Amino acid sequence: AKTHYHDFVVQATKVTRLCKTRSSITVNGQLPGPTLEVNNGDSLVIKVVNKAQYNVTIHWHGVRQIRTAWADGPEFITQCPIRPGGSYTYRFMISGQEGTLWWHAHSSWLRATVYGAIVIRPKERDSYPFAKPNHESVIVLGEWWNANPIDVIRQATRTGGAPNVSDAYTINGQPGDLYNCSKKDTFIVPMGSGETNLIRVINAALNQQLFFTIAGHKLTVVGADASYVKPFTTSVLMLGPGQTTDVLIKGDQPPRQYYIAARAYASAQGAPFDNTTTTAILNYTTTATSAASNSNPIMPNLPPFNDTKTATAFTTSFRSPGKTLVPTTIDENLFITAGLGINQCPKNANSNTCQAPNGTRFTASMNNVSFVLPSNYSLLQAHHHGIPGVFTTDFPATPPVKFDYTGNVSRSLWQPVRGTKVYKLKYGARVQVVLQGTSIFTAENHPIHLHGYDFYVVAEGFGNFDPKSDTARFNLVDPPLRNTVSLPVKGWAVIRFVADNPGTWIMHCHLDVHIGWGLAMVFVVDNGVGQLETLEQPPEDLPVC
Ligand code: C2O
Repeated sequence: AKTHYHDFVVQATKVTRLCKTRSSITVNGQLPGPTLEVNNGDSLVIKVVNKAQYNVTIHWHGVRQIRTAWADGPEFITQCPIRPGGSYTYRFMISGQEGTLWWHAHSSWLRATVYGAIVIRPKERDSYPFAKPNHESVIVLGEWWNANPIDVIRQATRTGGAPNVSDAYTINGQPGDLYNCSKKDTFIVPMGSGETNLIRVINAALNQQLFFTIAGHKLTVVGADASYVKPFTTSVLMLGPGQTTDVLIKGDQPPRQYYIAARAYASAQGAPFDNTTTTAILNYTTTATSAASNSNPIMPNLPPFNDTKTATAFTTSFRSPGKTLVPTTIDENLFITAGLGINQCPKNANSNTCQAPNGTRFTASMNNVSFVLPSNYSLLQAHHHGIPGVFTTDFPATPPVKFDYTGNVSRSLWQPVRGTKVYKLKYGARVQVVLQGTSIFTAENHPIHLHGYDFYVVAEGFGNFDPKSDTARFNLVDPPLRNTVSLPVKGWAVIRFVADNPGTWIMHCHLDVHIGWGLAMVFVVDNGVGQLETLEQPPEDLPVC
């Protein structure tokens, strides 16, 4: 196994998109940032130097971070932010994961432009569980704002309203042919006739689930979130922010150009959304000539933005390739609601701060707790050194009130309590979490991401979770292993994992606007007793608050 050394310089860079140039925060001046290419079992040492004017941290999304929670990266959860002028070196290993992950800033809305891919190939003596592809490409889906994204979220936080939607979706940082001033930079994927291409698709968008397709080509899904899956064929993918999907495509079509395209899956009822389409080009090349370089690429059909049927058909197609280690006995059984709400504004509040519908403020919660980040210590420091007063351990294992989560409910439920509440798990506990979406204010899909773990998605469905009838539907044989589950609109999903990684691990909606509103909670997993179960000591350069 190798150790890979990288320097990530976070800096302001002039970036031009949609005919406008603005200063953007990037890593090493690149958008997207550098792709990390490693083999399973390798180690990474990444020195992050902050030359920007904002606090920053970097999270290695989906990397298990076994015993290395100090390198996980979410601001105020596992570390204090790296201040302007500061630096921090992340040291961690990739163990047992193969496929595609990614990295991103985990501080305010910086991940709008601070993100990149992590490609994990098998150990050098191993091979893929499918025939070696002729070519591999990475497709990172993102969003572009003409305004500074940090200002967009600051404005929304100040007013209590919803933030402005982005001005474009992007593929590898580029909006593509269908947007103004974007044609010459459209990303091109080469395709050889008769060859096979492995495409690693990452949804790095800030606030949008996306459908993804390629004109004329079947997509054979072989992996997701750095785990292999039992291959299945589809014409369209749906990815929530945080999710990755690896697909194989065959060069079995007449040689010319085909659009690769992504567009919103916007399940929120009545919410504004950006319905434009980002594109790249699949370009057949032959030995004689670069095929059809001036032809009009063929445009695929994408499902309509509210096509929950297609989204669900896709997300429920995943199986692990064989039998799994899914826990069949459970020590901790939690029921956690996830959804939006609105807070009444105090009578004397300035109307400029209450711009959600009817003079309210948006909020979001899990089990009616709207999560508040600490500010003086990270939760991991507080936990590790026993610093009191930073968090409380009273996050409820079940919702404080039972109600019809998918219906209209009493106003009192619109008012979550704010707090830095964690749930403690014993090392080694076998955990089940029933995630239940609510529609207190509006119903929508929530991509729920857990740090520090992969979990099995044993079932998902619509309506209120019913412990009797729905338990019978659990797949305890070959459920897929994920780090982000797309919690269906007005529905539920059940995940299981073994709490075998000590640390403080945030579980949150990966729509960034929902994190800001409090759609998060934290598991604190105790150290085990043995050397191999214990969290490593904090690195000397760990930033202080
Ligand atoms: Cu991809 Cu908490 O993040």
